[in-house]
Amino acid sequence: KKISIIGMPMDLGQLRRGVDMGPSAIRYAGIENRLQQLNHQVDDLGDIEIGRSTEQIDKDTGLRNLDLIAAKTKILADQVDGVVEKGAFPLVLGGDHSIAIGTLAGLLQHYHNLGVIWYDAHGDLNTAETSPSGNIHGMSLAVALGHGHPLLLEVGGVHRKLKPENVVIIGARSLDEGERDLIKAKGIKVFTMHEIDRLGMPRVMEETISYLQDRTDGVHLSLDLDGLDPSDAPGVGTPVMGGISYRESHLAMEILAESQLITSAEFVEVNPILDERNKTADAAVALMGSLFGEKLL
Ligand code: ARG
Ligand code: MN
Ligand code: MN
Ligand code: MN
Repeated sequence: KKISIIGMPMDLGQLRRGVDMGPSAIRYAGIENRLQQLNHQVDDLGDIEIGRSTEQIDKDTGLRNLDLIAAKTKILADQVDGVVEKGAFPLVLGGDHSIAIGTLAGLLQHYHNLGVIWYDAHGDLNTAETSPSGNIHGMSLAVALGHGHPLLLEVGGVHRKLKPENVVIIGARSLDEGERDLIKAKGIKVFTMHEIDRLGMPRVMEETISYLQDRTDGVHLSLDLDGLDPSDAPGVGTPVMGGISYRESHLAMEILAESQLITSAEFVEVNPILDERNKTADAAVALMGSLFGEKLL
């Protein structure tokens, strides 16, 4: 595979500073070498420039850093678009999960039936009306589905939105009330921790794959490291107890690799300041290894 890495060092979608260092931490953990070992052709496009600014709260909606997030995710959307255009696999390194607004906007210009696997403790399905925090990292999936502030919906130009029936959420264990309502209203497929415990990860992944395989023309993996249990991924800003284990996550990535379904990916919310000796970035890189075909024998 030709893989193009894009760093998106943006921490504007939430309150814990430091997640802007996520791309560096993941590079330091050896992502390029890991993928080259698997005979992939890796092209690191470097980081999108975010710069510094003081926090801005939109006075009508309470959204934090709305203008900057809209502007920066637009740049990411264009880059992702360019990578897909030249036939490479976009691998985006975050950054908080608000970056997915850009990644998905870029992808949606190419895929008519984009599938998304949202591997996360959260749904990120809030709007300004339902958000308890005003943090845009809790809104990115809603935006991709067409719900949210007009400035965010416009990112990447006028284009198609994600279809709710093409989305699978895996690992959910912290959903706000408005998010639950949206999930029910749209019929979004969710494997909560309950289902993962009950069915086991192999069955969850097999069901996810057979569900997405026929209805989509490409599948994006949006992996929030807080989907993992905080004991395995402590370096995240919004940890939630009782998550997916490191081993289960590897298994999930290995099953995805076998399926050859995934056409783009992003790994988000790695915050080295909150981490223990880069453990979370190491986990991210190890999972990327499995996703891109690593096997012992
Ligand atoms: N649901 C909460 C909120 O809207 C938390 C969101 C956490 N999102 C994330 N990408 N870590 O503020
Ligand atoms: Mn294009
Ligand atoms: Mn998330
Ligand atoms: Mn999350």
